[in-house]
Amino acid sequence: MADTITITDDRTGKTVTVPINGGTFSSAALRELDPSLFMYDPAYLSTAACASAITYLDGDNGILRYRGIPIEQLAEKSTFLEVAYLLLNGELPDADQMAKWSHDVTHHTMIHENMRKRFVDGFHYDAHPMGMFISATAALGTFYDDAKDIFDKGSFDKQVLRLIAKVPTIAAMCYRFSQGLPFVSPNNSLSYGENFLNMMFRIGDDYKVDPVLSRAMDILFILHADHEQNCGTTAMRVVSSANSDPYTATAAAASALYGPLHGGANEAVVRMLAEIGTIENVPAFIEDVKNGSGRLMGFGHRVYKNFDPRATIIKKTAYEVFEVTGKNPLLDIALKLEEVALNDDYFKSRKLYPNVDFYSGLIYQALGFPVDMFTVLFAIPRTVGWLAHMQELLGDKEQKISRPRQWYIGPGERNYVDIAQR
Ligand code: CMC
Repeated sequence: MADTITITDDRTGKTVTVPINGGTFSSAALRELDPSLFMYDPAYLSTAACASAITYLDGDNGILRYRGIPIEQLAEKSTFLEVAYLLLNGELPDADQMAKWSHDVTHHTMIHENMRKRFVDGFHYDAHPMGMFISATAALGTFYDDAKDIFDKGSFDKQVLRLIAKVPTIAAMCYRFSQGLPFVSPNNSLSYGENFLNMMFRIGDDYKVDPVLSRAMDILFILHADHEQNCGTTAMRVVSSANSDPYTATAAAASALYGPLHGGANEAVVRMLAEIGTIENVPAFIEDVKNGSGRLMGFGHRVYKNFDPRATIIKKTAYEVFEVTGKNPLLDIALKLEEVALNDDYFKSRKLYPNVDFYSGLIYQALGFPVDMFTVLFAIPRTVGWLAHMQELLGDKEQKISRPRQWYIGPGERNYVDIAQR
């Protein structure tokens, strides 16, 4: 069988044959038939907008791999910083590379005092931490003269390092501000996850990070580090294609992540579980969802149509965390919801399964994070994936500034009517 596709324009009888490459064919072929012809594909349901070597996702079989390595192996054996290196560089680091990378990230965690004093302190006392995180990330770029030198490899790598090192500091700072607590400086003797928990929760001198909890944090960071061309990463690529600086592009990607259909779902799940309140209310809630008067948050995925491998790992991690923290009282409602939904034709026929956000919020809550910090916890590790995609895009000779076409459905030409005549 030929690995080509032939398209015929029935209006003219013209035909074009194009190769199929990795399950894709170039839509430019259509323009050979008729230069004014475009594919109409709202929400990119069947459009590959780039070639990428970073993350492989097979939604039908629940497979997720970073640079070829299964997510299950990384969650079990790796650390978040090692995964960050892998995503950015394509290979796992050797011992020397890892030591240097860890040292470099650890020694770039501080942020300029004016960020907190002049910028973050200006927010309203009850500002949402994700809104603060987005703004602070964009503002961070204004502290670096070289932020815009994105085609100078040394400079770009420096911004990547700064962003990965500083996003936990920004996140913790936003949280401490919202609680009215003094800012805790980064501690260079702690690992990435430990340092974040320490900056978040330290009060006085006696705070010790539980190793089970810091490992759970690391696993959650690994699972959220990248997920190929989702909404936030697409925002990152589109903004980066205009050659914006990495801080602004990261803020744009984080803005997309903030939405409740995307990274905001973990927050929405916990609010939903709290609203359901008791196991007895689960069937009525499910009926409401089926009647269209609600959405089962944390269920369904654009790509995963069988199971989300991240959800499986998170569920296991949740039980390990609950051993230390005690069970989250919302867990029983979540388990019941999952059971009812997985046995209901509405969800089965639409291939709706728990996604990464269904259980992550329960862990975050057990770790002591307030609900409005959840999406920030997603944004910290995803910064790595966003930057890996920006780096890939800038090196991709086929890419240009993103500029989709449209199907115009507005009125044809008509004359302006003076206001007195309207
Ligand atoms: N609850 C109830 N019905 C749903 C749900 C849900 N969570 N998700 C999809 N459906 C229904 C939808 O109404 C539609 O039904 P019908 O064919 O009768 O119109 C059908 O399933 C297909 O849904 P869709 O909206 O066309 O699917 P999509 O690929 O556009 O949306 C999604 C994917 C993740 C936005 C959606 O499943 C959703 O809203 N889920 C809840 C929010 C959520 O958990 N988001 C986190 C996603 S994973 C983390 C991340 O990547 O950010």
